[in-house]
Amino acid sequence: MKVVKSSVVLAVLFVAGLGIYVLLGAYSIGADVPHSGLVFSLLSTVRDRGVSAGARAISVPADLDSPQRLSDGAGQYAAMCSQCHLAPGYESSEIWKGLYPQPPRLARVIDLTPAEVFWVVKHGLKFSGMPAWGKSHSDAEIWDITAFVLKLPHLTAAQYKDVVAHAPPDTDMMTMPAPADGKQ
Ligand code: HEC
Repeated sequence: MKVVKSSVVLAVLFVAGLGIYVLLGAYSIGADVPHSGLVFSLLSTVRDRGVSAGARAISVPADLDSPQRLSDGAGQYAAMCSQCHLAPGYESSEIWKGLYPQPPRLARVIDLTPAEVFWVVKHGLKFSGMPAWGKSHSDAEIWDITAFVLKLPHLTAAQYKDVVAHAPPDTDMMTMPAPADGKQ
């Protein structure tokens, strides 16, 4: 009985201490200071488990390797993803340097399944800067992007440039309102 009582007291003290620590703003929330090891591994586990649970029911289209999908995905990737995730031949960017967690360089290695890539691109990842592209794109478009992401580690810098140069442009990216006087 004594052991149970002491455990309850310890648990209450721990939660109270944690609450005070949080309310004092003592945890460094700036993106230029890394998480503590404990918080980092907790968040990584939450992310990995959430992604694989989310991807479980997703079925992958049979034509993921089709040239049309890859070409459509290339234009979207260059416009929407490359500044954060870089690309073959692009080693850094201003935004990539400042983000925490740092976006993985998708051209180097991807250890996610196609369904997991689709899930992450569609739903995004909380507390990371990874947007939920499903809010602005159809599933078909997200499969195009997924197809291209899976292809990225196999492309040289010259092949990347070439496929992007021939891809349909992403016309819905940053449409600027025309100035009121009609001048461009
Ligand atoms: C504003 C920056 C930003 C943009 C733009 C962005 N991402 Fe991300 N993305 C991130 C960050 C940061 C992470 C890492 C999150 C983490 O580690 O918890 C991430 C994670 C991912 C992952 C998971 C990688 C892995 O190995 O776990 C994939 C896949 C991904 N992004 C694809 C994309 C695609 C495709 C696009 C464009 C449609 C895109 N992202 C646009 C910031 C961005």
